[in-house]
Amino acid sequence: MPTLLEELSRVKTYEYTAEDVREFEALHDEIRALKAERNAVIVAHNYYRPEILKIADFVGDSLELALMAAKVKDADVICFCGVHFMAETAKILNPGRTVLLPNLLAGCQLADAAPAEDLAARIEELRRDFPDLAVVSYVNTTAAVKALSDIICTSANAGKVVASLPNRNILFVPDRNLANHVAEQVPDKNIIAWEGFCYVHQQITPEEIGRIRANDPELEILVHPECRPDVAKLADAVLSTSGMVRYAKECSATRFLVVTECGLSDRLAMEVPDKQFVKGCKLCTFMKVTSLEDVRDSLARMRYAIEVPEEVRVPAERALRRMFEVTEGKPGPATC
Ligand code: 13P
Ligand code: SF4
Repeated sequence: MPTLLEELSRVKTYEYTAEDVREFEALHDEIRALKAERNAVIVAHNYYRPEILKIADFVGDSLELALMAAKVKDADVICFCGVHFMAETAKILNPGRTVLLPNLLAGCQLADAAPAEDLAARIEELRRDFPDLAVVSYVNTTAAVKALSDIICTSANAGKVVASLPNRNILFVPDRNLANHVAEQVPDKNIIAWEGFCYVHQQITPEEIGRIRANDPELEILVHPECRPDVAKLADAVLSTSGMVRYAKECSATRFLVVTECGLSDRLAMEVPDKQFVKGCKLCTFMKVTSLEDVRDSLARMRYAIEVPEEVRVPAERALRRMFEVTEGKPGPATC
């Protein structure tokens, strides 16, 4: 069993010293004691800081975290080390539990690109021309947007969700790059994309990826569907973050270019030490704003509790549960 120091020394985004790691170990002990006292579980998104991933009970992509939230049985408190919309999703599915987001600055620029009032107006406008319009919202949306949606999807299941609908006309909210990827997977649908994008994935250019590949043509290229279509075109596989983890573990290739937020390459470097992960990535400030001290303080002071009003929660839950029915609660594929 590797020590925390050995594991964190594989991380490339940060240069941890032995002193940093000793501090992390002391904070981990405090957090474990608080977790037991509060009867809490800690869940963390794949992009979070490695020292937080190491204390989490469960680490995953948006779909896995939503599934996990839907299945929580024993815990009174869910400490959600993700961004705001993810903690809201956990609260929508667990109205009777306390859901904590350790740092309220952990928002999501993509979710903010679709305000609920603007979406309501756009739906009304489009339904005049397309009476059969279905609204499919990516999980990276506010609870109020989910409440206006027919069904939710994630990067792991977007094509499957859209293909399951009888409607031909689909308003896909809020990510235009994921909408483009879905339109390629389900060509018989008329996909009307909301013009949002993730500032992290949008920064990655085909020139950058082309340069890395030109120097190293053997690399297997894994791309997140929030990337631009001209970047996705260069991929050997377009996958959600956990889809990339499964692919890297299960496929015979040993060297990968990981094109998404940088935290994923760090998780892979820690978990799959016998393979090599080259970073074709950018940092998300929202995913990195939370510290281990924030996680400790969150459990110590029970902050910051996420609330969703019932009139929003109930329709948002319906749209989320429809996604679970369509995907039978399964994580996305990782086909080599
Ligand atoms: P995943 O569901 O693939 O983890 O994506 C979440 C996200 O916010 C990507 O930017
Ligand atoms: Fe939002 Fe993009 Fe950050 Fe994901 S990477 S949380 S979509 S801003």
